[in-house]
Amino acid sequence: VDCFSYEDGKLHVEGVAIETIAREYGTPVYIYSAESVRRRWKLLSDAVTPLGVQICYAMKANNNLSLLRILAGLGAGVDLVSGGELERARVAGIPGEKMVFSGVGKTSEEIRAALEGEVHQLNVESVEELKVIDEVAGALGKIATVVLRINPDVDAGTHPKITTGTRKNKFGIDYHQVLAIYEFAARLPHINVVGLAVHIGSQITDLTPFRQSFERLSGLVEMVRQRGYTVERLDLGGGLGVAYGAGQRIDVEAYAKVIGDTLRDCDCALTIEPGRFLIAEAGALITTVIYNKETDGERFSIVDAGMNDLMRPALYDALHPVWPIIEPTADQRATPCHLVGPVCESSDTFGRFTSLPRLKRGDRVAIGVTGAYSAAMASTYNARPLVQKVLVNGDRYSLIRRKQTVADQLRYELADAGHAL
Ligand code: LLP
Repeated sequence: VDCFSYEDGKLHVEGVAIETIAREYGTPVYIYSAESVRRRWKLLSDAVTPLGVQICYAMKANNNLSLLRILAGLGAGVDLVSGGELERARVAGIPGEKMVFSGVGKTSEEIRAALEGEVHQLNVESVEELKVIDEVAGALGKIATVVLRINPDVDAGTHPKITTGTRKNKFGIDYHQVLAIYEFAARLPHINVVGLAVHIGSQITDLTPFRQSFERLSGLVEMVRQRGYTVERLDLGGGLGVAYGAGQRIDVEAYAKVIGDTLRDCDCALTIEPGRFLIAEAGALITTVIYNKETDGERFSIVDAGMNDLMRPALYDALHPVWPIIEPTADQRATPCHLVGPVCESSDTFGRFTSLPRLKRGDRVAIGVTGAYSAAMASTYNARPLVQKVLVNGDRYSLIRRKQTVADQLRYELADAGHAL
């Protein structure tokens, strides 16, 4: 993966040896490359900005403030899905006019915060939500700008747990009902309905489902306009896939062409919401081997990072590439091994690897392509503190988030109150 490479036998992130960072801060540690974020941004924005597309980074993929600031500096808006993300985006300096608020379950409080924060639009997913937005906007004396997220009934062909665009999913408004609901929205006094949105799933590398859903969108635009309503914005969602070791990341030129082919003539302001594409390849989780053992002929290397730090393998059977931070020499034979964490669950595994050298206690490896949905989905299962993060930029690096402590966790406990009952 670019920005991660071996130099003088040591795995580097840009100009910094990972070993240096691991020695200084200990492991587990997430390391991010600023240059990788800039490169992915440039690749995508070069492809889509000629079509007038605004990129709103789906910050659920990674909401670290330093990374958000890099993206904001490049011109990104954000796609956010909670009050917490709204606050973080604001702290990162992103203006309301560059925020899109998605999500199937926004609370009244979140809607109020969004309206007070002058977010660009709310992407609405149900009639009940429309009614609540209308009420909240009315109470604030505001008009809420909304688009309707449709469910195009397109199968993105990705992992079932990250597919969102088929009729069986909870997401979006059934496209058969879109016209009726658009009319309903247009009649609400505190709602200004201005367009449509779609998001069919994540980690998509095949362009066909994108084409199908954009075609569906284009048909709906025409239908809604024929009834006399204005459609001036389309949000095309995210879902752009990356390479996890094997395979190829999505061809963004071809993706842009699909947008052009299907929507160039629709006369709408276009937005996309990529998360993973911008950030996945920028990150790696560095972990140290604690023990090795053999059971029934299988070798296990137990590392100090666990499923709570990176749960994609346990949750989606995701296989992330693993790189030793000291380059294996030609005479080191590969020893198949399961790389597993210390958590007391069999699903606490990062996979079985056949090309790693025989790892020893104290050896370190980088679990690659973990910039997206990795630290962001971490938990404190087994009372394991959230891990620290380091950002690399050229030959400089800095801690960008401290390691959580057990004391931090204990602060939220009210054990005396519980004991006194
Ligand atoms: N827009 C909406 C409305 C979304 O729900 C999502 C992701 C995105 C944009 C960004 O999708 P991306 O470009 O990152 O594919 N935790 C899973 C991925 C869940 C994605 C949820 N929604 C994983 O680790 O694979």
